[in-house]
Amino acid sequence: MSTNGKSYRSREWLDTPELYGWLRRAAFKAQGFGEPAFEGKPIIGICNTWSELTHCNAHLRQLADAVKRGVWQAGGFPMEFPVMSLGEYNMRPTTMLFRNLLSMEVEESIIANPLDGVVLLGGCDKTTPALLMGAASADVPAILVTGGPQLKGNWRGEELGSCTDCRRYSVELRAGNITEEEWAELQNCIVRSPGHCMVMGTASTMAALGEALGIALPGNAAIPAVDSRRAQLAETAGRQIVNLVNDDLRPSKVMTPEAFENAIRTLHAIGGSTNAIVHLAAIAGRLGLDLPLKHFDDLSRTTPFVLNLKPSGKFLMEDFYYAGGLPALLKEISPLLHLDRPTVTGRTLGENIANAQNYNPDLIRGLDNPLDPEGGLAVLYGSLAPGGAIIKPTAASPELLTHRGRAIVFEDHEDNEHRIDDPALDVSPDDVLVMRSSGPIGGPGMPEWGFLPLPKKILTRGIRDMVRLSDARMSGTAFGTVVVHVTPESASGGPLAAVRTGDEIQLDVPNRRLDLLVDDREISRRLEAEKTRAPHFKRGYGWMYSQHILQADQGCDFDFLRAEGVGVKAPA
Ligand code: FES
Repeated sequence: MSTNGKSYRSREWLDTPELYGWLRRAAFKAQGFGEPAFEGKPIIGICNTWSELTHCNAHLRQLADAVKRGVWQAGGFPMEFPVMSLGEYNMRPTTMLFRNLLSMEVEESIIANPLDGVVLLGGCDKTTPALLMGAASADVPAILVTGGPQLKGNWRGEELGSCTDCRRYSVELRAGNITEEEWAELQNCIVRSPGHCMVMGTASTMAALGEALGIALPGNAAIPAVDSRRAQLAETAGRQIVNLVNDDLRPSKVMTPEAFENAIRTLHAIGGSTNAIVHLAAIAGRLGLDLPLKHFDDLSRTTPFVLNLKPSGKFLMEDFYYAGGLPALLKEISPLLHLDRPTVTGRTLGENIANAQNYNPDLIRGLDNPLDPEGGLAVLYGSLAPGGAIIKPTAASPELLTHRGRAIVFEDHEDNEHRIDDPALDVSPDDVLVMRSSGPIGGPGMPEWGFLPLPKKILTRGIRDMVRLSDARMSGTAFGTVVVHVTPESASGGPLAAVRTGDEIQLDVPNRRLDLLVDDREISRRLEAEKTRAPHFKRGYGWMYSQHILQADQGCDFDFLRAEGVGVKAPA
């Protein structure tokens, strides 16, 4: 039974004969809901990554209330439920270690409960991809609503972006160009509101890609967290999810191969985070789709970089919203997109952006006036990265994109921390800083350690960039000539483990090459002589992680979570 004659999934729980169906109704009534509140209605889950430990998501309880209003308005019955939250600042060793765990919790929470559709509330870096991975695996109708970016930072009249400018000023502090007092003052000015980092970091990137994939409503990516229009959008999502349930529009029908191609084009056009490559590959993998790194690079060659936003450009997310937001950008690059793809509005992507306006052509450039004729990310291959490595050329120093230098090797993050400012470190600006043991297994969790600090003795000479490479990831808010995701990682026998201080390394971004200029036989000999490191975990989730984690080119998902029989299972 239902309000529109449709049989909802949740009926399998409520219509169970005898005691259990009766008890489930009693459980709703126990919370004060009378029968008219839920009887015959689709039950909409609001999957919430709210936590006070995740400052970016700390306002999501209020946003959930807005979603609920929309669900009630459309004749649904909303039920909010919590899932694990992943806060970038607090979690150790890295949130990436737990992204798959959150995705599993999302999937199993949806499958195990009487839910007909779900609104996903995320924001901070890993919460959005984890929600999409879990929802893709569960495959009930779903809409992503992110918490929105923070307001712009402002210090002594200078507009600041978190955390691009935190990194920039921390370098100036180490170089002696600002005082400890100024650094402390800056701490009060950089994060002025709830919401996620307001540069084109990983959170902003994943919010934008949600919109490009068609799984989020138009405009979702850029509305500031505290703007009343974000609550209005959440309310709209609450109404729209009821329509999606009635139309049975599931994530697998929205996130198609063409939708992923739209997302990859968008990633290049916005100069998005390197992390998005890993997350898109993982989400696609849950739907049985492969996204080889080469596909990302092929699309990069033919997608201009058009968004003038930090860390690759000048503006911030709040400005992007006032300029027209992602719909305006998608309209500018629309000749490159599959416009006939269905989206969670019930309309096609082309219909969604038909009336979009670009109010700031310096911020959102056109295809005829890009910031760079190619996309924001490049994939490198070579003797040092047979499985690929990633660089963000738009955030790098152009003169270093083709560079040959002597390797200065750090065994791991700890070694780097101990020695980087050692006055005895023999290092020059032309050298290449190399760090290993920082990948999915070695980190563990592939932490964002790839933005290696420059030695103080280099900084004090006024130099702000060097070539750096590792099997770690890099925060989407970071910048510089930084090669990350070197695959396979050193801890699983990749050639990165064979690099020795003094070896020559050749970086050639135009030709997409990254090579260790050492004889192949010598590389093999060194790898054979490598000692195996003790495992990080002997029990628990970490042990399971170590047994099943895939490399970066496969999205760092667990091997057993990639699609096999995607879709909702019937309850017992
Ligand atoms: Fe949460 Fe940057 S710390 S998005």
